[in-house]
Amino acid sequence: MGDARLLRVSRPVEQFGTPELRELVADMFDTMRALNGAGLAAPQIGVDLRVVIFGFTSSPRYPHAQAVPETILINPVLTPLGEEQEEGWEGCLSVPGLRGVVPRYQRLRYMGFDLDGAVIDRDVDGFHARVVQHECDHLDGILYPMRMRDFTRFGFNEELFPGQQISDD
Ligand code: NI
Repeated sequence: MGDARLLRVSRPVEQFGTPELRELVADMFDTMRALNGAGLAAPQIGVDLRVVIFGFTSSPRYPHAQAVPETILINPVLTPLGEEQEEGWEGCLSVPGLRGVVPRYQRLRYMGFDLDGAVIDRDVDGFHARVVQHECDHLDGILYPMRMRDFTRFGFNEELFPGQQISDD
């Protein structure tokens, strides 16, 4: 946070299936796994493209979260399904050591493309919907603290969740 590259509106991917795109996504998975992240967006490794990855079977950072299928999502378009929002704790690999409560749409349709340009179209809810909203915000230069409404629920992991093994996200 503070790096100007995180505040840019990223460019759409125009060519699918290229070696460069595969290499980018491989780098992103390496980074996400090394840091135990639930998701990652290309701007977080300094790349100005509309590419996000997310997914896990179980996350040490979100021990109570439902599993989310491993997904590569390119040029995403998000459509909230209904007005309902819910609050939940989020961290971010670009805002290390901190957590905050962020309101997100509870249900969501997302569309986009995989590495080879095949269409992805899903209706999701709960934590899955939250992760997608968080990651896709990065493509528009939005970090989760910008979405927060209550800064009494923002702080350091070790103060908010003492004794819990939450990695530096
Ligand atoms: Ni993030």
